[in-house]
Amino acid sequence: MNSDISLHEQWFAAYAARKRARELHDAAPLDLKAAHTRAVLENARRMALHEKFEPPLVRACLLAALYHDLGRFEQYLRFHTFRDRESCNHGLLGVKILKREARLAGEDARTRKIVLAAVGLHNRFALPAHLPRTVELAAHVVRDADKLDILRIIDEHLSGPGPCSPTVVLNLPDDPAQSGEAVLRAAAEGRVAAYADLRSVNDFRVLLGTWFFDMHFVTSRRQFVEDGHARRLLEALPPVPPYGPARAALLERLTGAERGAPGSRARA
Ligand SMILES: [Fe+2]
Repeated sequence: MNSDISLHEQWFAAYAARKRARELHDAAPLDLKAAHTRAVLENARRMALHEKFEPPLVRACLLAALYHDLGRFEQYLRFHTFRDRESCNHGLLGVKILKREARLAGEDARTRKIVLAAVGLHNRFALPAHLPRTVELAAHVVRDADKLDILRIIDEHLSGPGPCSPTVVLNLPDDPAQSGEAVLRAAAEGRVAAYADLRSVNDFRVLLGTWFFDMHFVTSRRQFVEDGHARRLLEALPPVPPYGPARAALLERLTGAERGAPGSRARA
């Protein structure tokens, strides 16, 4: 049992290349997913090692991170969107593919169970209560690592000089007049906002800022603040209503965390 998963990484790279070759129109979103996977794996590795998990759990976290978005490739080839609501649940599709491809056949039963559960749960709005502790920890590692890299992708995309890719911003309109009331309420109340309530690109900026409330480890919370992506995304919001109050509240939380205020302490 060790944390070397290089054979799995090689298989994943070959799988991603195979799927990419089948996309005849726009393969860029698939390249983005392959790069995202590598970044999530690195985030997860940092977290799992820092949290000093037992070696078998570290391995399960790494495998779950590597395979968390396996379903994205088939999802995109079939539906040309990453919106689960308009296509399929990509977490559950990933579980199906892992089983079909027998990717975990060489792992022990405990590892298989944790990895399949964490992949299947990674894209739920919230985790179910009363999960086995190891499943819960692995799922949190993958979810935190995933969110941290989504922040990077969206920030680099929205702050970059190029035009906004509809796929990256979930086909949301970049219309400052459209705001989701539920998203703004979540931000004001210090809760995570829901994808289902998004109305515009600015809502998406707010939602990403509220992920601060859903970081579960000291390492992930620190990275959330230090990467600077959330701050840049939030600072680009209009400082006037309806976004002004949510913008100010979320930026204040980031500033507090930077200074080591009580709000910056991880909950678990
Ligand atoms: Fe995902």
